[in-house]
Amino acid sequence: MGSYLTLDDVDVAGQRVLVRADLNVPISGGSVADDFRIRASIPTITRLREAGATVVACSHLGRPKDREPGFRMDPVAVRLAELGGFAVRKIDEVVGEDVEAAVAAAGPGDVLLLENTRFEPGEKNNDPDLAKGLAALADVFVLDAFGSAHRAHASTVGVTEYLLSVAGPLLVQEVEALGSLLADPPHPFTVVLGGAKASDKLGVIKSLLPKVDMMLIGGGMCFTLLEAEGYEIGTSLVEQDRLDEVGEVLRSEYGDRIVLPEDIVIADQFTADAMREVVPRIAIPDDWMGLDIGPLTADVFAAAIRGSQAVFWNGPMGVFEWERFRTGTEVVARALTNHPGFTVVGGGDSVAALRLFGLEGEVSHLSTGGGAGLEMLEGKTLPGLAALERWVG
Ligand code: 3PG
Repeated sequence: MGSYLTLDDVDVAGQRVLVRADLNVPISGGSVADDFRIRASIPTITRLREAGATVVACSHLGRPKDREPGFRMDPVAVRLAELGGFAVRKIDEVVGEDVEAAVAAAGPGDVLLLENTRFEPGEKNNDPDLAKGLAALADVFVLDAFGSAHRAHASTVGVTEYLLSVAGPLLVQEVEALGSLLADPPHPFTVVLGGAKASDKLGVIKSLLPKVDMMLIGGGMCFTLLEAEGYEIGTSLVEQDRLDEVGEVLRSEYGDRIVLPEDIVIADQFTADAMREVVPRIAIPDDWMGLDIGPLTADVFAAAIRGSQAVFWNGPMGVFEWERFRTGTEVVARALTNHPGFTVVGGGDSVAALRLFGLEGEVSHLSTGGGAGLEMLEGKTLPGLAALERWVG
């Protein structure tokens, strides 16, 4: 998991602190559509303000091709200020003289938010000049962006070469929560996976299967596994190019720990008001598609979750955005509530589902990481974490 300094190791009073947060949130109609990651970043910023630091926050937002106006950080700055209860000065550049002047004019307790780091061409290829430009803005760097720690970019990794760098409290919390599942999870340990693509989750399936007691798989991805098992899946989502690999996993030493849906909610088309039926998995008609796990499966999954000491859930069980295909995801989400064990939920869609059901406060740990959490559970070294090691000892 690596080692790193934290905010406990540095005195930030009177210092300029560059905070790389993950404020990559969905924007709709010019405002923030889901503020979970912004909320999660606030305790770190508040702690720094209260300790007398000048906070220079930065993040990427989306995947802009160039400086597309729809990817500006302005809506994020507005929401950060509303939620944080402090003023946020949005700066229209990422680096350069104007930014340096704005930082120099700020004082302890002030919060500045830089423009989208991906507006700089050097961000994604970890350009040293951009990293130096960012480092010039501060005395200390805090990497708090767990959700981006799997990206070796200038604002996550490059900057650590030029500035004293520590892990922020959110990053530490995330690494400890996910790390404990990897290292020594209490048993029974159940992993629940869903979401559209099996290919996104194959790494984590392979790495976690030897550690789990059960792996429950629903969502669009389950149809690639069902097809690999020889079931007719109609027009359900399937990744043909992954069938061999998936088949190998299912037949592997621990393959029998994978639990696939027994029944499926099917639809005659991919629309919110499609016709809806519940069928056993052996009976999906040719021209229908699976859009949710069936009620029997949802109950089986819920019972397994309730009977576990540790649960990790990533990926919805169906198209939960549409009411008619929401039940499987809701039953799984509710099974995690009032749970005596250690429950961790990661990935934007599962977190959004929990929030939709008003259950976000009910799990032990709600992760801000999607891809980063999966890569960590795959046992990969996150470049952001590795970069912090250079400042230890
Ligand atoms: C995420 O949303 O998973 C992170 O913010 C990383 O975003 P990216 O996949 O565009 O690098």
